Amino acid sequence: MDIIIRDDYGQMSHEAARVIADQIKAKPNCVLGLATGATPIGTYQELGRLCKEEGLDFSQVITFNLDEYLGVGMDPSQPYSMDQSYARFMHEELFSLVNIKPENTYVPDGKAQDPVAFCRWYEEEIAKAGGIDLQLLGLGGDGHWGFNEPGTSLASRTHIQALTKQTLDDNYEAFYRKAGVTRDEMPHFAITMGIGTILDAKSILLIVNGAKKASVVAASLEGPVTSQVTASAIQLHPGSISVILDEPAASALQHADHYRHVEQMKARYGL
Ligand code: GLP
Repeated sequence: MDIIIRDDYGQMSHEAARVIADQIKAKPNCVLGLATGATPIGTYQELGRLCKEEGLDFSQVITFNLDEYLGVGMDPSQPYSMDQSYARFMHEELFSLVNIKPENTYVPDGKAQDPVAFCRWYEEEIAKAGGIDLQLLGLGGDGHWGFNEPGTSLASRTHIQALTKQTLDDNYEAFYRKAGVTRDEMPHFAITMGIGTILDAKSILLIVNGAKKASVVAASLEGPVTSQVTASAIQLHPGSISVILDEPAASALQHADHYRHVEQMKARYGL
């Protein structure tokens, strides 16, 4: 696991975009797993810049998003600020900034008539695409990946998930309040890739910023592997893992100096 610590959000985002750009250059028809939330917005902006100014080519890239609120889908009749679907978020924050083909972008369909059948279909589509080459992840305040709340099996596949009070509170403040939706009206369930689905990705890129997440970063990376902190499953991934943190998010790590030393040594020896 490469744990890379950067001074601030801007540097974290820049570094994360570089990892994704390297993946696209190495395999132009790669399959990316994508995340929502405030954390990846800077990364997506930098990818938009790389596409426009440096010709980074998304024309063959396929993407699968981690999750979507149940009962919610993109509503083109609503302005962005009122449409809190992750489908809309992805369109505004990334897909409209790069030359990706809309038919190559998959976001779970929160309005699916049969959500359980949809979850099976989503898994099949990921498999048909050849599996995910690089999965981008943020970290929820309760240590979740996607919407895999505490207690979710570390072997879970795409499923319907009830959200915890903490997640409802966090996401209400971050997104739903400004859309004029009451706390009761916001969706209490979501469709999410499972932890097993995420661990099947060939490589993982976890990005986290801010002091608020410092304790859950430490629990995920240095604590026991447990379904109570589903992101701790990162310790089970057998492939390449990059974790990019800003200084405040890294502040509770016991071995931060060691991670910095490893990064310096790798740079010195070109590893
Ligand atoms: C939501 C998403 C997660 C995301 C998390 C953190 O719960 N389902 O995929 O990682 O929010 O969001 P933020 O980046 O806004 O802190």
